[in-house]
Amino acid sequence: MNQFAPLRDFIVDYTRLVTSALPESETIAQGRALLAKLLSTSAWLPADLAATGPAYRQNLLHCDPLQRFSMVCFVWGPEQRTLVHDHTVYGLIGLLRGREIEQRYDRGTDGALTPTTRSVLTEGQTAFVSPSTCDLHRVSNGLDSDASISIHVYGGNIGAITRASYDEATGAARSFISGYSNAWLPNIWNHG
Ligand code: FE2
Repeated sequence: MNQFAPLRDFIVDYTRLVTSALPESETIAQGRALLAKLLSTSAWLPADLAATGPAYRQNLLHCDPLQRFSMVCFVWGPEQRTLVHDHTVYGLIGLLRGREIEQRYDRGTDGALTPTTRSVLTEGQTAFVSPSTCDLHRVSNGLDSDASISIHVYGGNIGAITRASYDEATGAARSFISGYSNAWLPNIWNHG
């Protein structure tokens, strides 16, 4: 069997899920269940896509041809973290290895950021962000001396979406397009 079979099965199942065009909350609920199943093993993740870099890496694992969803492997080296940022589409977060810290924020009408929930995600756990609930957070590696890896699934082609990061002190927004870190994708089609 191809080592990527669990990844391919997830992509096939998730494609079926988005094709059924359910309300977002239902897509998130069913998507989290699929993601939790994927997180129960890790041999499907190629070692090259699990390697740390000088900054955190966001490796594309799959993008739906109709851009209804994308799947990204985040690799956090020690002490690596994002800026406060939004997504503009829903995002599922699943911890494959290590620990991930998520700090959420509210943004007032004056633009100021207020920290709200802080949570620690451990292996096998899932969470989500959504513009209809909370879309603002900062994510960081929860381990001081080791890598952490999380698998994210977004309701669009996240690497191509114009969104924003925010200065934590002033709340000032700066628009950005994240792109992806990797130059190749796993060959998920090499088995029957
Ligand atoms: Fe995020």
